[in-house]
This record gives sequence, structure tokens and C-alpha cells, in this order.
Amino acid sequence: MKIGCPTEIKPQEFRVGMTPDAAREAVLRGHEVVIQQGAGLGAGFTDEDYAAAGAVILDTAEEIFATADMIVKVKEPQAVERKMLRENQLLFTYLHLAPDPEQTKDLLESGCTAIAYETVTDDRGGLPLLAPMSEVAGRLAPQVGSWTLQKANGGRGVLMGGVPGVAPAKVVVIGGGVVGTHAAKIAAGMGADVTILDRSLTRLKYLDDVFGRTFKNQYSTAGATAELVREADMVIGAVLVPGAAAPKLVSRAQLSEMKPGAVLVDVAIDQGGCFETSKATTHADPIYEVDGIMHYCVANMPGAVARTSTQALGNATMPFMLNLANKGWRQACEDDPHLLNGLNVHAGQLTYYAVGEALGIDVLSPKLALKQ
Ligand SMILES: NC(=O)c1ccc[n+]([C@@H]2O[C@H](COP(=O)([O-])OP(=O)(O)OC[C@H]3O[C@@H](n4cnc5c(N)ncnc54)[C@H](O)[C@@H]3O)[C@@H](O)[C@H]2O)c1
Repeated sequence: MKIGCPTEIKPQEFRVGMTPDAAREAVLRGHEVVIQQGAGLGAGFTDEDYAAAGAVILDTAEEIFATADMIVKVKEPQAVERKMLRENQLLFTYLHLAPDPEQTKDLLESGCTAIAYETVTDDRGGLPLLAPMSEVAGRLAPQVGSWTLQKANGGRGVLMGGVPGVAPAKVVVIGGGVVGTHAAKIAAGMGADVTILDRSLTRLKYLDDVFGRTFKNQYSTAGATAELVREADMVIGAVLVPGAAAPKLVSRAQLSEMKPGAVLVDVAIDQGGCFETSKATTHADPIYEVDGIMHYCVANMPGAVARTSTQALGNATMPFMLNLANKGWRQACEDDPHLLNGLNVHAGQLTYYAVGEALGIDVLSPKLALKQ
């Protein structure tokens, strides 16, 4: 198969769909890889790295789209990219179609077959192609939060680990899933006094068994949250209610009860945010202040560490990408129901029920799509 990887063109996106390692794995299996000139630069991979891996470098996105059987990307195709997609071409990338009727319409019109990273599943009920980005965002949260806590950035001027004789920062993590667990691990590793809150007793038991005394955990009620938030130097919002906007767990009124210069890091901002005063920010201007409390609300946190994120995403997508290339999408999806769950669009028809419901479009069963 001819696999193509264009340069990402969405603003502030520095990741790339294929690492040189992934390109090499594909080439070793007899596939051809074409990559747009400069595509990996944002993540620290040069054209020479790709050429050494056996990929062919092409100048423009037009050439990549015109020649490749499968397009591997990171972000959903932008309008100009969607115009270049064609019938029978396979697209493997993040799509997030439910809130995006325009993209959905264009993909349907293109006649392509599109497999969305975010709906591929695994045996444990997880989302294996979303999890690496949650791991990155979770681990980044205490790092950006501790920077924001510094006096010059508007914070309280508290050091995460304290020093002998001075207490460490108090960090509260709301939501103990992938983001929250990784955030708590790093904050505890920096020496902070960390408490994680979650609504799932099963999850709290797991955290208690696995992490012991590394950080505390508590059942998430409005009362417990309010008490911990009042005392916190940093609060990290990491909740997710699947399919719904994030619940607002800290109100504006509560800010006045917090310590001046305390920091809120709202990782759940991509689902609307879990603090009433959160509004999405960018890496160019990531923080702002409300009622004396600093907020960090960047919606695409993994972009800040594009190299790590590209490698983490590449490790997760590579086995699926290789299967798609080796077997063709039909056989690969037939053999792996989790990959079939990723099928969102095929030959002008929507094949993912939740997107159909959100957009009011009829859906073709993915199993029937395999037969077409
Ligand atoms: N900003 C970014 O760049 C970025 C990157 C990755 C993920 N995210 C977002 O981070 C959020 C968390 O993602 P995740 O992968 O950790 O999800 P997850 O499903 O692994 O974990 C979410 C956790 O929240 C808990 N929860 C739900 N309601 C709660 C409540 N009221 N109080 C306490 N806990 C509650 C759940 O029990 C679950 O354990 C999502 O909104 C995700 O989209 C953002």
C-alpha cells in the first residue's frame, strides 16, 4: 500500500501523523511511504530522518493526497485537505465528527473511507488512541501549573516540593481517570501533597491499591471538593462524563474563598471545562486571572510537547496502521472489531451511530459497510 503523511496545517499543531520509526516499519513490510517535505519538523524529525527510514519525500500536500492509498494524519482534515480526498482513499486520523457537520458533509461527499482514532476501542473498554494524549496532558498539568504558581506569572509563589522546614504545595486533582492519575503521579513526584477525587469507587480502590500512600484519594462530593479547593495551591480539573459536557465543579463564588494566587489547571476544557470561570486559551497566551485566581485552560495541551506526543501517538497508532496497510481496511476491520469501531465514514455513508444521532444523519451499520 502507498501510505501518505502530509504536514499538519491546523493552527498551533506541531505533531505529525507518522514518525520515522513508523515509516520504517511500514517500508520493512513492503509498503511505500510518502511524506510531505518538512512534515516532521515541528516534532523534531527531519526529512533526512524519514529518507533514512526509506520514505519518499514529496513537496506538496497535493502530491501526497493525489498518490497515497491511505492518508495518516493527526488532526481532522481541514477544508482544503478535504477537497483533496477521493473515492476509495482511506483516511486514518482524529476526526471528532459529532460537533462538526461541515467536516462530516465533506467527508461523505469525498467518497473516502475514514477511520477515527478517537472511536477505536480496546478489550478493557478503553480508547487506546485517545489515552496517550490524556497521559501527556495529565503529566503536563502539574508542570504548567507549577510554572503558573510562580510569582512572576501571577501565582502564589509556592514551590511544589517545598524545602526542609517548609510545607509542600497542596494539589487537588478532580477526576482520577487517565489524565488525573498521571497528573497526580507527577505532582507527587515533584514533592507536592496530592489528593485525588473521583466519583467511581472502583477507580478509588484501584488508585488506593496501586499508589498506596503516594497520594491521598477521596470520594468526590460537592462538600469534599469545596473543602479541599479552599486549602489548595493548585487544582487540576480532569473529569470526564462520556458524551456530555464537563460538569462545573468549582463555581465563581468559590474563587473568593481560595488562597489568592492559587492556580486552576482545567484539562477538561476540551469538554467545556469543569470550573465555572474556565475559558479555552492557547499556548501563545495560556493563562489568565479571575478574582485573584490564576487559570490555565489550553485545549490542546499535548501540542506543547509535540515530540513526545507524536512518539506516544505513533506507538499507539502504528499497529493499527500496519494492519490496515497489510490487510486492507476491510479485512483489518473484519479481523478486529475494535478497529471496526473506528469506522466513521465509508463511500458516502456515515457508519458511526453516535455521530449520526448528533447530526441527524442516517447511519449504515459498519458490518454492512464491510460488505460494500
Ligand atoms: N486539554 C487537553 O489538551 C486534553 C488532553 C487530553 C484529554 N483531555 C480531557 O481530559 C478529560 C479527562 O480525560 P481522561 O482521559 O482522564 O478521562 P477518563 O474517563 O479516563 O477519566 C475521567 C474520570 O473522571 C471521573 N469523574 C466523572 N465525574 C466526576 C466528578 N463529578 N467528580 C470527580 N470525578 C469525576 C470519572 O469517574 C473518571 O475516573 C477529558 O475531558 C478529556 O477530553 C484534555
